[in-house]
Amino acid sequence: MNKKVIFKKRIPEPKEMGKEEMKVFEKMSSDNYQRWMIPLVDDVLERTNIKKGAIADIGCGPGLLSKELASRSVEFRVTGVDISSVALDMARKNCKGLSNVLFRYGNVNKLPFQDGTFDIVVCKDGFHHFPSPVRALREMLRVVKGGGILYIQDMRRDLPSYLLKRSVPPQNTLQKLQYYSTRASYTKDEIKCLLRAFPLQHITVKTRIISSVLKQKYVKKGINLMRLKESFQARYIAVAQKR
Ligand SMILES: C[S@@+](CC[C@H](N)C(=O)[O-])C[C@H]1O[C@@H](n2cnc3c(N)ncnc32)[C@H](O)[C@@H]1O
Repeated sequence: MNKKVIFKKRIPEPKEMGKEEMKVFEKMSSDNYQRWMIPLVDDVLERTNIKKGAIADIGCGPGLLSKELASRSVEFRVTGVDISSVALDMARKNCKGLSNVLFRYGNVNKLPFQDGTFDIVVCKDGFHHFPSPVRALREMLRVVKGGGILYIQDMRRDLPSYLLKRSVPPQNTLQKLQYYSTRASYTKDEIKCLLRAFPLQHITVKTRIISSVLKQKYVKKGINLMRLKESFQARYIAVAQKR
């Protein structure tokens, strides 16, 4: 077992995100929009080289990732999906005025789409919430086209301990969100193992680093590099192509 794993065993979230948690999460996401949404969308677009097509944002929450994806090109048709009607209401408000994004109620266990609907399926910080990782992966892959991309970013349970210490003991809503999410997340090894059971190629699971090219780009956008590095270190990205 990797020495870095603080929570040796994964413990699912005690409950679904309620209205209060969703409000805090939306505020946090809006405040950190530049740092959370822009680098992620940059990476998705760079890896997939997509210029037009259908993109799903599974577990879209308040819809800010969908907003950033849809803002990049009118040639993208973005569909955000979530099980929470509170989140979907927020998402629709946050994306008002964008004609190439829509939101649908849906459970990752049974997505309301036909096979092969999307060129890319993205899932940001939601995977650890899903009750069955195998079922969620099977469904997300069912709705991706052959040759299409599955892109997951999520918290990692094997994060450096200095990052978790900030939310121990978990007292306010923000600390609780971080603590329970980390405890419910997968390690990079666990994700690799899960993905290897599917007909995928070019599987990559890693923690992003800030290259000097990225540094220059994000400094210009006013993004705090130390905080960006911490966000990256607390997460993994898993990218794979459907065969
Ligand atoms: C931490 S939030 C992330 C939201 C968004 N992806 C973001 O990063 O801004 C996790 C989201 O997953 C959604 N979720 C949880 N279980 C789900 C399920 N079974 N199917 C679809 N969405 C789900 C929650 O309602 C919540 O909006």
